[in-house]
Amino acid sequence: MSTIEQEIAKRRTFGIISHPDAGKTTLTEKLLLFGGAIQTAGAVKSNKIKKSATSDFMEIEKQRGISVATSVMTFEYHDLKINILDTPGHKDFAEDTYRTLTAVDSVILVIDCVKGVEEQTERLMEVCRMRKTPVIIFINKMDREGQNPFDLLDELEQKLMIKVRPLTWPINIGQNFKGVYNLYDKSLNLFSVNKTRIERDIVAIDDLNSPELDKQVGERDANQLREDVELIEGVYDEFDRQAYLDADVAPVFFGSAVNNFGVQELLDTFCDIAPATLPRPTDVRVIIPTDKKFSGFVFKIHANLDPKHRDRIAFLRVCSGIFERNKFYHHVRLDKDVRFSNPYNFMAQSKDVIDEAFPGDVVGLYDTGNFKIGDTLTEGEDFFFQGIPSFSPEIFKELINMDPLKSKQLEKGIQQLTDEGVAQLFLIQPGNRKVVGTVGDLQFEVIQYRLEHEYGAKCRFDSMPISKACWITSDNPAKLQEYIRLKGTQIGYDKDEHPVFLAESDWMLRMNIQNNPDIRFHQTSEFK
Ligand code: G4P
Repeated sequence: MSTIEQEIAKRRTFGIISHPDAGKTTLTEKLLLFGGAIQTAGAVKSNKIKKSATSDFMEIEKQRGISVATSVMTFEYHDLKINILDTPGHKDFAEDTYRTLTAVDSVILVIDCVKGVEEQTERLMEVCRMRKTPVIIFINKMDREGQNPFDLLDELEQKLMIKVRPLTWPINIGQNFKGVYNLYDKSLNLFSVNKTRIERDIVAIDDLNSPELDKQVGERDANQLREDVELIEGVYDEFDRQAYLDADVAPVFFGSAVNNFGVQELLDTFCDIAPATLPRPTDVRVIIPTDKKFSGFVFKIHANLDPKHRDRIAFLRVCSGIFERNKFYHHVRLDKDVRFSNPYNFMAQSKDVIDEAFPGDVVGLYDTGNFKIGDTLTEGEDFFFQGIPSFSPEIFKELINMDPLKSKQLEKGIQQLTDEGVAQLFLIQPGNRKVVGTVGDLQFEVIQYRLEHEYGAKCRFDSMPISKACWITSDNPAKLQEYIRLKGTQIGYDKDEHPVFLAESDWMLRMNIQNNPDIRFHQTSEFK
């Protein structure tokens, strides 16, 4: 195997997703703990200040306690290099999460055993299904009186529309939860309940009929486990790794992240079965990670880590070849060559400058305004990575400048914040009116706050009677121009100056589609 092949085989780049409060942050922290990346629990989440230093670094986040930022945590475990891409759970930041999912090779989905499948879980799973991303499900909080595990599995299959296959099984639930039996390697690992350190007490049970099982968990629970396992083996097919990699089956793990139960089983099996770096489609061809030439794309931009210096960090996912420090790369959209003297990686709790990075890695690039979400870097070839579209926003408001002396700052601020993907900006002529579109109300507050604190600009948002934005194209340029002229202020221009029809209602949109057969209406910005 060549160096690059070896490096690729070592990579596991994945995202943890969940409905808020299911335990995503806790699980992330426990994975870091079991992976040896941090020594004590609480490092990721013990308080908001620390949290801002490692996983979420935005002032707003500290204020609100909502995980706004997507961050990356890397650690080494059993010769593997594991990259966890964290995602905001709050639904108003769903687009950020969707974009992060373009940069992962697999996903761990966390479910609260009391609440079962929640609204945000369904939406996130829809994106995974669409992209055929392999998913592992972790059912958390088994120390609470949750639903019956068999019922939970049925609910997962029905609501998430994917076949499931348990790979661990809980021994009792609620207050009497004792741990999980590992169906994958047929062992029983009992942990002492301990929230800050790992004290493992592994009891290997090779044979479920062994009296050791009764001794460890009591006769009643031992018999129940035997019955459950028999039922599982009867009802569910053998675990088929290929079916998991093809996103046809989701393996399921049970546990309690906060109590360390079931996390080791999850991590070890994940390392065994999760895919290494996968190929990525572009508008020209599929890019294979082992391609000799480097390529990658920006899936996230984070601005103003230090409000005094207006620096931004672009998160670049390496897709092929080797990324090298100080080497010139081709910025496809701007058609110019760029190089980076201080690219860094995200080892848990610290950032180190790196000399090279391999496919599957995420590199942090200091940016002075060259990048937008979705930008592609190559070694000269012209292509764009696919699957990083903007979707039609759901709420539209006009941005009104409240301080005429600061209009330059406002202009710059809104440009940069929308480059980051916080929201979408559409310009309406005449008058250069700025319409901001988002998927949730919270983003307007974030924008207002950040414009004021990071750019010194004051603004107000006025509601607009718009419910949908559709990108418009036509094979007949004259017809398109005529349509744009006729629609006047119902046409906005996005950041790439593509015309967008801003529809008042779904009905109005349908009428326009019906009455204008020469115009194509696109639901996302990615059309060819
Ligand atoms: P999120 O990132 O998905 O939003 O969830 P997070 O990890 O912050 O967990 C949400 C709450 O659930 C936290 O409680 C956390 O301690 C708790 N939790 C996580 N795993 C388990 C578990 O296995 N069992 C039980 N019973 N609770 C769990 P909190 O009160 O909101 O915060 P904290 O003060 O405890 O940190």
